[in-house]
Amino acid sequence: MTRAVVAGIGHAVPPKIVTNDDLSKLVDTNDAWIVQRTGIKERRVCAADETSSTLSIEAANEALQDAGWDPDSLDLVIVGTVTGDNIFPATSCMVQDAIGARNAGAFDLGAACAGFIYGTAVAASMIESGQCKRILVVGVDVLSKYVDWTDRSTCVLFGDGAGAVVLEGREGTDRGVLETVLLSDGSGARHIILEAGGSRYPITGEEWKSKNRHLYMAGAEVYRFAVNNMGDACLRALAEIGMTSDEIDLFVPHQANLRIIDSAADKLGLPPEKVFKNVEKYGNTSGGSIPLALYEAVKDGRLREGMVVMTVGFGAGLVWGANIIRW
Ligand code: UT7
Repeated sequence: MTRAVVAGIGHAVPPKIVTNDDLSKLVDTNDAWIVQRTGIKERRVCAADETSSTLSIEAANEALQDAGWDPDSLDLVIVGTVTGDNIFPATSCMVQDAIGARNAGAFDLGAACAGFIYGTAVAASMIESGQCKRILVVGVDVLSKYVDWTDRSTCVLFGDGAGAVVLEGREGTDRGVLETVLLSDGSGARHIILEAGGSRYPITGEEWKSKNRHLYMAGAEVYRFAVNNMGDACLRALAEIGMTSDEIDLFVPHQANLRIIDSAADKLGLPPEKVFKNVEKYGNTSGGSIPLALYEAVKDGRLREGMVVMTVGFGAGLVWGANIIRW
């Protein structure tokens, strides 16, 4: 059987750090509230000339270098993002060009904070089917450009970042993407939304002017949804391949809120040493969150070849999913 094996990983975050104390000068908030309710201490924020494509290109180049691959050997570039540089063309095409992947197709995939899980699932299927041999998957978002910096209920939560992996089809190995669960409940679309600027309220018309130009999130609804569904998605993925949570070496959940991460880990009976967290440094980087966490887990030596890692993500859609990878 052909398996989609992770052959390299990269990341990118903008250099600018915004601390909780910095935010307390903008809105009525404080470090103690943000840390206690979310676990976030600081986040990275893009400058005007830093975008989803610039972060993606940096992360992609690092992943290619990590694998020691020629970019011409890539068959496909997938970028999971909801904050592409433009409505069209796809950011993945800019990435494909910039990294010199002259033989690759490219498309973006919109699954918000679950974008990397969805992208990896598509890549793994295309590799397992024999259609592609080598695929680049990037998860990236630049939500700082859509946050209302006067709204304390959202501006403290988000940051910018990207992560990327390159996947390769290999035979006769037990490594690779073992299982994925993908789910959606569009009845919750209104809970995390950027209303203005799409084809419903295009900026070429008049109606968008009365719509929200910033990210809106019903925090409590999303919190409830996440706590109820993250653990379930993981249990479903485990059941599909007949594994138990004891066999998971490292759990790398979407880094949105420390309390949500801890509640998912509790539900799965995973001890703290098996749970990776870096939300304190980056906040919620949406599509960038899971691959950025995987990258840091690898660099910290907590995720090594042959270990079984489970990731889970949830976000705007509402959409969620989990996967299990033997690294
Ligand atoms: O990737 C997308 C996924 N998104 C998420 O995972 C977010 C999920 N939701 C959450 O993480 C939490 O709901 C929040 C962190 C957004 C909010 O935490 P909470 O414990 O649910 O707080 P709350 O919304 O119930 O607000 C409690 C209080 C309110 O004051 P009152 O009405 O009790 O007087 C808020 O106005 O905290 C107030 N508050 C703040 N206070 C200081 C809200 N934001 C802030 C703030 N600083 N930044």
